[in-house]
Amino acid sequence: MADALRIGIAGLGTVGASLVRILQTRGNALAVACGRPIRVVAVSARNRDKDRGIDLAGVTWFDDPSELARSADIDVFVELVGGAEGAADASVRAALTRGLHVVTANKALLAKHGVELARMAEDKGLLLNYEAAVAGGIPVIKTLRESLTGNGFSRVYGIMNGTCNYILTRMEKEGLSFEACLKEAQRLGYAEADPTFDIEGNDTAHKLAILTTLAFGSEIAADAIYLEGISNISIEDIHAAADLGYRIKLLGVAQRTETGIEQRVHPTMVPLDSVIAQVDGVTNAVALESDILGELLMVGPGAGGNATASAVLGDITDIAKSRPGAQQVPVLGRPAHLLEPYRQAAMQSHEGGYFIRLTVQDRTGVFASIATNMAENGISLESIVQHSKQPVGKDAPQTIILVTHATMESAVRTAVSAIKGEGYLVGEPQVIRIERPKTA
Ligand code: NAP
Ligand code: HSE
Repeated sequence: MADALRIGIAGLGTVGASLVRILQTRGNALAVACGRPIRVVAVSARNRDKDRGIDLAGVTWFDDPSELARSADIDVFVELVGGAEGAADASVRAALTRGLHVVTANKALLAKHGVELARMAEDKGLLLNYEAAVAGGIPVIKTLRESLTGNGFSRVYGIMNGTCNYILTRMEKEGLSFEACLKEAQRLGYAEADPTFDIEGNDTAHKLAILTTLAFGSEIAADAIYLEGISNISIEDIHAAADLGYRIKLLGVAQRTETGIEQRVHPTMVPLDSVIAQVDGVTNAVALESDILGELLMVGPGAGGNATASAVLGDITDIAKSRPGAQQVPVLGRPAHLLEPYRQAAMQSHEGGYFIRLTVQDRTGVFASIATNMAENGISLESIVQHSKQPVGKDAPQTIILVTHATMESAVRTAVSAIKGEGYLVGEPQVIRIERPKTA
């Protein structure tokens, strides 16, 4: 059997501790599968005294992940610290500079510095593997990067944040509050260190930016993503969606249009009978629509220690099996210097159906005024209903729900703004986009 692959792991939190546990308990099976043992020889985290439920006897401890990355005793650097800057960024650069293969689960880092890091890795013939960075345990990076080469993609979309899907599912199915569901997602190790990244959609945007590059061959453009999170979604919206035959999911969508690539992250109504509507809890789903294959929908565990460690482990074993000096798979699907500039399609040009919930004063003529404003902006309505579950009492505000046929984002924004100017709205209107899966 060949020499052991010596790995250094920075970050011993939810993912890092699971990874160490798996590597220690599956050692023999991994050695057989890879033709060489995989040995954790060094680690780094902030707190040496924390009980992590793992055995670190004989493993060298570094307080600074960059020092670990510079250690002469490791062959592979695994970054599980998190964050686009700071210790994660510095240590990954230190490892690549030193000539080490790198594995990371850090989508924030890749969304910000991915192209530059890919160039660094490719210039030195190194692997920079990041399967865990998108959709947890679902092997979507490998699928796009290696299995679907040659396909032309029209749309890539999915549920890519386990925390948000977990919150929306439990709110709908158990009537729990947003805050209670978020707390539980944090306890289960699904949420980011700062959970606003989850609920405000940034985490999904980081993942989408990576998928866009893999699918469309353009440079990573995370800052160009239209972003809305789920913190504004109420139980009322969830029930109204169900009444209309939809379920609300936080989707990331990248779509080729005539003017460029549209990238957006927002709460989305999907038809109740679609497969993606059935994807519950921490489970993620990624749909890839392409010209040769057609539609591929991948569904699986999207967050948590074991799901994520499974993907990290796959990346490590790929390195263990790789031949020294062999041509490496380009980090972002094509060599980084051949990525095209990102051509952004304006969100205002997005075309689709819309759900609009308006709370209005109970006055004569409101219905007609809403319909007129819609018509004046060329918006065709699929339905307009006074919602059945109304507040009681004379002059109590009423809820009106509109569903549009496919229309332009710009038209919806103009119409909603005109309605706001009419003076009968109570509170802010709620606008949720509708997305239709191609087949499933
Ligand atoms: P976590 O539980 O917060 O763990 C972070 C680890 O990094 C901790 O061990 C922490 O040390 C260590 N750390 C933080 N700052 C450090 C510093 N300056 N120097 C040394 N160590 C430092 O995070 P996680 O959930 O495992 O996530 C790790 C990475 O995986 C992130 O990039 C995350 O986005 C990604 N990811 C997570 C999941 C998931 O489900 N959790 C899924 C996919 C991808 P202490 O323990 O001593 O505080
Ligand atoms: N916080 C992320 C989520 C972890 O909830 O999906 C997985 O990337």
